[in-house]
Amino acid sequence: MQEERTQVAVVGAGPAGMLLAHLLAAEGVESVVVETRSEEYVASRIRAGILEQSTVDLLRSVGLADRLEREGDEHRGIHLQWHDHGRSERHHVDFVDLTGRSVWVYGQTEVQKDLVAAARARGQAVHYEVTDTALHDLDTDRPSVTFTSSAGVDVRLRADVVVGCDGSFGPSRSAVPAPRTWERTYPYSWLGILADVAPSTDELIYAWHPEGFALHSMRSSSVSRFYLQVPNDTSLDDWSDDRIWDGLTTRFALDGWTLDTGPITDRSVLPMRSFVQTPMRHGRLFLAGDAAHIVPPTGAKGLNLAAADVALLAPALVAWLRKDDASLADAYADTAVRRVWRCTHFSWWMTTMLHATGDPFDEQLQLSQLRWVTSSEAGATGLAENYAGLPIGF
Ligand code: PHB
Repeated sequence: MQEERTQVAVVGAGPAGMLLAHLLAAEGVESVVVETRSEEYVASRIRAGILEQSTVDLLRSVGLADRLEREGDEHRGIHLQWHDHGRSERHHVDFVDLTGRSVWVYGQTEVQKDLVAAARARGQAVHYEVTDTALHDLDTDRPSVTFTSSAGVDVRLRADVVVGCDGSFGPSRSAVPAPRTWERTYPYSWLGILADVAPSTDELIYAWHPEGFALHSMRSSSVSRFYLQVPNDTSLDDWSDDRIWDGLTTRFALDGWTLDTGPITDRSVLPMRSFVQTPMRHGRLFLAGDAAHIVPPTGAKGLNLAAADVALLAPALVAWLRKDDASLADAYADTAVRRVWRCTHFSWWMTTMLHATGDPFDEQLQLSQLRWVTSSEAGATGLAENYAGLPIGF
């Protein structure tokens, strides 16, 4: 077995793992990242599209925002729409007016490309396409991660600390003995598409409709992203392009407004799930991002919450490994989980407010809630504060 040694072994080269490696390197802490997928796969998977203010501030503060500033699109807020008694209404919620904070449209794929470019520029060690990753001796002060490299070599990576950024299917989450978990599955999924068509809207539209929720998002001035609420067992085969555009056209219909359509370049069905696992630390293993929590995408929180975990964890590890001060590392699990539950609640709340259930009582509550968050400043401010993102240490 070949031996390697680093200060922080990072499991997972998605945005959480790569951002952590970047933040640690900026403070002189060395890390090695291991990832089961290929670099191309991680960089091309289509995920979230919205960065909240704290995430943008963090990326700016560590020199990762040059392309974001040039190519990203700053949004003041979102549109909320509903359909009642044969009529649709669309209302803008202005986060900047309400909270002084904005959000940016900049795809996770773009964030990942910027992270990979920065990693390459500083000579970051990343092992892609490893197999049989396993975590060892986490409750001692000599933890390690073993894996087989893409060249077929068995490696033992020794580290002071291991960080699991490997999502809900990776080995890190299951390396925590006797965790506590909370889970909610939802009786609907999203059918997501990317289309080569200019967005028909300046800012995102979240639409409640008796046929089901729809979301109009975007990636650039020529690429739009759409989602439709579909039943959980939906097969893509049942959704022709025409059926998708008809569904979107119905759910977004509004007098005086038209939805432009174009070639669909990507499509997938996404399950909706809330999941939280605690503690986010076991001995010398720390969990960050999807390894510890999953939110449904309705509040655009997944990527931002992963960035917030890492923003707390990086200074904690720097203080521990460079100044022998473990106080922030000892506080990490409790500090991080407070924000996790805030985002878990917000994502659940947006999800349950906007998805049709077929239950007439739910429907009236949803319409009442939508009217309240678009007409009362108190209601709107609560949504805006959570959507644009609370400060990192909240
Ligand atoms: C997206 O653009 O992919 C997106 C935007 C907002 C959401 C979820 C997904 O709430």
